[in-house]
Amino acid sequence: MEQRILILDFGSQYTMLIARRVRELRVYSEIHPFNVGTEFIRSFAPAGIILSGGPASVYEEDAPRIAREVLTMGVPVLGICYGMQLIADLLGGTVGRSADREYGIANIRGQWGSPLFLGIEEFRHKMEIPVWMSHGDRIEKLPEGFSSIARSANSPVAAISNREGTIFGVQFHPEVVHTPRGKEILSNFLFRVCGVPATWTMHSFAESSVKRIREIVGEEGVVLGLSGGVDSAVAAVLLHEAIGDRLTCIFVNNGLLRKGEAEDVIHTFREGIGLHLEYVDAADTFLRALDDVEDPEQKRKIIGELFVRVFEEAARKIPGVGFLGQGTLYPDVIESVSFKGPSAVIKSHHNVGGLPEKMHLKLIEPLRELFKDEVRELGRELGVPSHILDRQPFPGPGLAVRIIGPVTSARLRILREADAVVLEEIRAAGMYETIWQSFAVLLPIKTVGVMGDFRTYENVAAVRAVHSQDGMTADWVRLPYDVLQRISTRIINEVKGINRVAYDISSKPPSTIEWE
Ligand code: XMP
Repeated sequence: MEQRILILDFGSQYTMLIARRVRELRVYSEIHPFNVGTEFIRSFAPAGIILSGGPASVYEEDAPRIAREVLTMGVPVLGICYGMQLIADLLGGTVGRSADREYGIANIRGQWGSPLFLGIEEFRHKMEIPVWMSHGDRIEKLPEGFSSIARSANSPVAAISNREGTIFGVQFHPEVVHTPRGKEILSNFLFRVCGVPATWTMHSFAESSVKRIREIVGEEGVVLGLSGGVDSAVAAVLLHEAIGDRLTCIFVNNGLLRKGEAEDVIHTFREGIGLHLEYVDAADTFLRALDDVEDPEQKRKIIGELFVRVFEEAARKIPGVGFLGQGTLYPDVIESVSFKGPSAVIKSHHNVGGLPEKMHLKLIEPLRELFKDEVRELGRELGVPSHILDRQPFPGPGLAVRIIGPVTSARLRILREADAVVLEEIRAAGMYETIWQSFAVLLPIKTVGVMGDFRTYENVAAVRAVHSQDGMTADWVRLPYDVLQRISTRIINEVKGINRVAYDISSKPPSTIEWE
């Protein structure tokens, strides 16, 4: 079996990042709650254990703990922040409240010669490196046989090691980007201290996921809602790899898709990848339900509820289904900071409206541990076409939130055409992959124009293009004037019903990416 690292989660918001860094270093790891039990840990047979940070203080009565035995199994251990304090506490040291809470960047000087700091030349020259601290507690007395191997202005004990060089603790967070040398420190722990080989790849992730899916699903069937987006596409292909035609994908056309999108999804997944795909054309149903609805949240609610109804109706017709598959990613999973057992809650829009309970389905989410860029890498590994993997995000309520005011089939047609022009020109300019989202919005006002000898009184389209890392903040793209000009000219000439184009130059915050 592959040598693997066990990460015990004490509720830190960064636990998933630890796993991600370990994956980046090509080592396989699994995260389990701190209270999985010593027997489990023994049978897991880890090559090393990482204790995550967490919001608790070890001296509190109900603080999350592990058995002392875990530290004496002969398996190397790295404690991060709370994890380090727990090591100190379990082995007879003392931890108390620090007079100065350290939060943010601090500079530490480490002991040159410690295996944890190999290659950090600054320490050889008695220089400091910046690290990210976030704690209110400090080690007051070290356990027997331990020494401090790093200090900062506020912490005489910023890192610890036992004499044997098998148990380490760091007060800072090596897993976050604000600790620029953190990856080297983790790498030292994995390769120098634990001695694991760097053999893990996305290929092995795919392989072990396929195995795990087969074990979980057994002989039952899985149904999955395919949206055409990256996450559901990769989840579908992974599930298909594992259980073949026992996976049924349902693709609901809500009539709010972009031009050519439904045809593209069907073609790519049914013909290209060979998925068992049920296509449900519910465009008329959605349009009727949206009749005269102006309020954005009302639109979202109607679309969300109707989707669940349509999906459920289609799913019920499939025999033998025991699971609902979802392409939930780690950022969709909000880790609870409760140490009563780090539980996960899903953002409501990702959990198809209570569908699993209603249909008595179990959930299977094979991408739960991954970040977006890792999902793309996995998708490439699985042969998902790049035009799907490199897609810009598209909101679930689709064009309905880009038609300001009531949604009608006439307005949908206008927006679809204008939007297609925007995307074509952005692609032609070679900018599609570098832009987070680019699209057109149809405004509820008419303005005067002139075409030939005729006065026109038509709609205005706004064009929006933004750069963003994660959709949380965004900046408008400085599109070259000639690209803007081509977009504008083509929309006004080619799209009947639009005689004016405006470019949105607002950033988020204070604006949002979508107009509704
Ligand atoms: P905003 O407009 O809030 O958008 O700045 C941030 C990101 O979220 C997308 N978005 C949605 N996605 N359902 C979705 O699935 C929605 O109701 C929704 N509203 C916004 C938006 O496209 C952007 O990527």
